[in-house]
Amino acid sequence: MTDKLIIFDTTLRDGEQSPGASMNKDEKLRIARQLERLKVDVIEAGFAASSNGDFEAVQAIANAIKDATICSLSRANDRDISRAAEALKGANSARIHTFIATSALHMEKKLRMTSEQVFEQAKLAVRFARNLVPDVEFSPEDGYRSDVDFLCRVIEAVIREGATTINVPDTVGYAIPELYGNFIKNLRERIPNSDKAIWSVHCHNDLGMAVANSLAGVKIGGARQIECTINGLGERAGNCSLEEVVMAVKTRRDYFGLDVAIDTQQILAASRLVSQTTGFVVQPNKAVVGANAFAHASGIHQDGVLKARDTYEIMRAEDVGWAANKIILGKLSGRNAFKQRLQELGVQMESEADINTAFAKFKALADRKTEIFDEDILALVSDGLVTQADEQYSFVSLSQHSETGERPYATVVFKANGKEVKGSSQGNGPVDASLKAIEEHAKSGAEMVLYSVNAISGSTESQGEVTVRLQNSGRVVNGVGADPDIVVASVKAYLSALNKLQSQAVRVSAQG
Ligand code: KIV
Ligand code: ZN
Repeated sequence: MTDKLIIFDTTLRDGEQSPGASMNKDEKLRIARQLERLKVDVIEAGFAASSNGDFEAVQAIANAIKDATICSLSRANDRDISRAAEALKGANSARIHTFIATSALHMEKKLRMTSEQVFEQAKLAVRFARNLVPDVEFSPEDGYRSDVDFLCRVIEAVIREGATTINVPDTVGYAIPELYGNFIKNLRERIPNSDKAIWSVHCHNDLGMAVANSLAGVKIGGARQIECTINGLGERAGNCSLEEVVMAVKTRRDYFGLDVAIDTQQILAASRLVSQTTGFVVQPNKAVVGANAFAHASGIHQDGVLKARDTYEIMRAEDVGWAANKIILGKLSGRNAFKQRLQELGVQMESEADINTAFAKFKALADRKTEIFDEDILALVSDGLVTQADEQYSFVSLSQHSETGERPYATVVFKANGKEVKGSSQGNGPVDASLKAIEEHAKSGAEMVLYSVNAISGSTESQGEVTVRLQNSGRVVNGVGADPDIVVASVKAYLSALNKLQSQAVRVSAQG
């Protein structure tokens, strides 16, 4: 007898709340398609009431994705819940996830509500949502730090109102595995109607224990849904990482005795897509998806693995998609092969003209780089393959000079509101000179809070992928650019960040 464990992916909602990780509709749709291929059970597509952009993204995902349940977050009020229901109309299977904080600290300092008011609002919200959709999830925010007697009252009441899933967030990542597991167990034992809902865990990683806490919530507490994100993306130290938690349950099935529907061979592609889209680089030693996760560097280990894989390997690299990391296309590949690969990667182009533009860029890259990997194609796309109508800046050309003993100098030509402009500057290095050349015209005044370069497919022949994180007037954005020339990649990343700074709509924060 086994049990099914529901995988609820919140990369597009909680993951996206991470400063700089915000995505546009097309990017979200692309990730949702990959999540569908990954066979997650539930996709939390966003927080529909937070902005028109988020509403449209949830709507587009609800219309396009048919195999997963599509969920929208909403605060515990009628307006948010109605917006969520509206956005989810096209879904085959829709879920409204409504939440309200229940810890004394959050109720008093954030909500400025009494516990009785929170109790009533939670009930009304679930009742209202259940009249719109049959699948309603309720979360007591900061649940783990809430008074347990009060939490029992709230949860019992919302289950009576029809909540079908009860999610217990460790919102600030304060839990310890054994304690969190027992916390869930205790709630389930004390609440008389607890068997009428599926119990879910939602853990943040502030103390590095989100995966362990989630697994304890399942094993000790009896939860049957885990909320997680690709690469553990999320605010502060992030959320429970999907790839780690899924591979733990799969690899140690002897211990957990649970089944997950995930197609694990799609894990690496999902990880790369999220990383390339958001500019949040995956650390090399990250479990399952890090570049070193299956690299047996030491001689002793290599020898062991060659003799018998299981001496040092508990999972097979192929099972999480590493074998798919092969040369996909090259200089001689035709338009059809290219188009098909785009489709397989979940990239949908609006028109044949867009495909032609994309193909021309692909050919230009193939002239410079003999082996084209999936990552290269995805980088072309996330690099702004097709210029969005609302983009203010785009790259045209670059020339730069650097020589030992001389101060580097760069001239960058780029488009600003459709007009070509040319900026020149000196700098500490060629990248610094190039970005200063842009700023000479853009005058964004933004502060750079992160700059990172990553070789997409390993060697120096690979494309460099650059992430630039800019901060301005309290907003943080990430720009990503890719090119075999890392100075060009840096310029593209900088222009992409400037575009995001200028276009990002102000949203209502779910938990702020
Ligand atoms: O961490 C949290 O409490 C949340 C809730 C909105 C579920 O993300
Ligand atoms: Zn959260």
